[in-house]
This record gives sequence, C-alpha cells and structure tokens, in this order.
Amino acid sequence: MKLFDVYPLFPIEPVKALGAYVYDKHGTEYLDFYGGHAVISVGHSHPTYVEKITNQLNNIGFYSNSVINNLQVDLAEQMGRVSGYEDYNLFLCNSGAEAVENALKMASFHNCKSKILAFEKGFHGRTMGALRVTDGPKIKAAFNGTITTEYLPLNELEPVEQALEEGDIAGIIVEGIQGVAGIIEPTVEFLKGLRDLADKFGVVLILDEVQSGFGRTGDFFAHQHAGIKADVITMAKGMGNGFPIGGIILSPEFKASYGLLGTTFGGNHLACAACSAVLDVIEEEKLLENVKNQGAYLIQALSKIESVEKVTGRGLMLGIVVNGDGKALRSALLTKHNIFTGGCANPNILRLLPPMNITQKESDKLIEAVKIELA
Ligand SMILES: Cc1ncc(COP(=O)(O)O)c(C=O)c1O
Repeated sequence: MKLFDVYPLFPIEPVKALGAYVYDKHGTEYLDFYGGHAVISVGHSHPTYVEKITNQLNNIGFYSNSVINNLQVDLAEQMGRVSGYEDYNLFLCNSGAEAVENALKMASFHNCKSKILAFEKGFHGRTMGALRVTDGPKIKAAFNGTITTEYLPLNELEPVEQALEEGDIAGIIVEGIQGVAGIIEPTVEFLKGLRDLADKFGVVLILDEVQSGFGRTGDFFAHQHAGIKADVITMAKGMGNGFPIGGIILSPEFKASYGLLGTTFGGNHLACAACSAVLDVIEEEKLLENVKNQGAYLIQALSKIESVEKVTGRGLMLGIVVNGDGKALRSALLTKHNIFTGGCANPNILRLLPPMNITQKESDKLIEAVKIELA
C-alpha cells in the first residue's frame, strides 16, 4: 500500500526533538519556529510532559466515556483556573475541526436557528460544518457546496448587524487571530462590537481559538485581550503539545443532557494527561509572560528590517509581511539556516509559531537569519 499523496513534503525527516529543536537521522539540528503547525506549545519532549504521559500509560491509557474518568474532571478544574473561565463547562474531543463541529451544533441546539455568520479568509477545519464556515473554495467538494455561508468582511460591524437583522442566525464564529489567512487580527473594537451584537440578537458568539489559544498570544485565549467573554470557545493544537486532543468550553447558559454530544476517543486518559502536563508547564514556567516578552522582542527587531513591511499578530503568533517573495524567504530559512517557519494563504507572509518557551537566543537566531536573507 502507498500513502494517499496529499502533502507536499520538505525533504527532511525529524527523528528526535527537544525543546525548540528537531533533529534528523544524521543529527542535523533544526530550529522550530513553526511548532509543527502551532501545535508544540511547551516544547518538544518536555520532561514534565513525557513523565506525565508515561506514568499514565503505565496505569491506564484508555477506557470509554461510559465510566468515571476523574482525569477529565481534574482537567476541567485546572483549565478553568488557568484560563479564567472557571464557571464554564468542558467537552473534550480529538481535533480542531471536531471542536468547531461541536461548537456550531451547540449554537444551533441552543437557539434552534440554523445559520452561522463567518468571516472572509477564515479557516475552521475540513469537516462538514467546519468547512461550511471556512472561506476556502478550493478545499470544498461538490458535496460540501450544497450548504453555503456568506462570508462577511473582518473588522466591519455594519454587515454583521445587517445579517443579524435578516434573522435565523444561530451564531457568529470568528478566529481569535486568523491563522491560515496570514495572522490577521480582529480589532478590540470589532470583538467588543460582536459581543454586543450577539447579546442584542440572542445569538451565540463562538471564538475559534484552535490556533490562537492555549497561551500562544500571551493571553490564555487571544480574545481575552479585548476584555470580552465568548459563549463557546474551540481549542486544539497547543492543547496537547502534539498529543491529539481538542475541546470546547461552554458558558453556563448551555444545558447538557445525556447523548447531546459524544465521542469514542475524546477525553481519553492519555489525552487528559498530555493536556494537564501542558497546563502544569504553562503555570510552572510562567509561559504567558515569556510569550509576551519574546513576542515583543521579535516584533521590535523584525520590524526594523528594511524589507519587512510589517509584523502582525501578538505574542508567539506572528506574521512577517515582506516586500517580496515570502515563499523564497521561508525556503532559504530552512535550507540555509535550518529554521522551520510556516507559510500561509498569502505568499508574502511567513508565520512564526514557535514553542512558547523559546529564549532570546532562539529569537536572535531567527532575527539574524531573516536579516541575512533580506539584506
Ligand atoms: C483556527 C482553526 N480552526 C480549526 C482548525 C482545524 O483544526 P484541525 O486541523 O485540528 O482539524 C485549524 C487548523 O489549522 C485552525 O487554524
């Protein structure tokens, strides 16, 4: 059997990883400013993480959601404390798209409406509902085309209000910071406005924090920077530092009932151990502070480079907008400097999504390499 060939691959095979670095079988070291696509939050093979998952595997790795699993209860309590959403409720699943599916469904269950408002260039995943709210015609099949959503311009409140006035809207979904689009931020004013409109029209405000959550921007969730609360928040990527886990947290207004949501693997023992280890490290190593400091340092240094038009984003979710070919820069950083970075929908923009515990030494390496390549 061969692999179904859907991924264009860099000719590199990491076989080992530690902290902010990955290594191939020849021992060549690569600096990871991509975080395996925003997934590596507390660093590769962090000792706390390895120990917690190993211990859990030596006890019990999985049993179904038909029995008590106090690891889930403890994880909800820990997540409530670390995120500031203490009175919300947690439902665990396995990926970002699945988290989005559950969030959309909960909005519709809640007010019995059927439409969702979404935004231009937004990305929410590749399953049925998540694709429906994703602005990506190239990744939709004819099968998905039977359901359509109108994509509204980001950071404009008037079209949102007009659409809400037309009615039958269950919810609004917006990314904490648009990732796949190229690190585009909703403004504070826009997020506050969405909160007010959602309240006025009785619709559910869903913040998709799959990429921007779990500390990546220096706040636990990116939208907290705007001082608002969402009704439902989706999470995945950084949540398990590489272990597949996703989830939604729901305001107390949402009432649970048996069978309303469900999953076989979601919230399994190993996933809970992985996520709990991530939260332990975020707290113990004060990673939110580090994310803010390193983010500010990178923004300041990179913005001074002549061919850098601007640096977008916050914390360690940054977009370098270059005057010229961003794809060529990404490729040169990898082949000449052994530094992984991320691309995005816009070829002029590079995404930086490194582990949240990088130090100034790693930031300096990236800055120097960008300077050399753009000189
Ligand atoms: C904001 C956002 N939502 C949802 C998803 C889908 O997550 P997954 O690939 O885990 O299904 C992604 C993935 O990049 C994302 O960036």
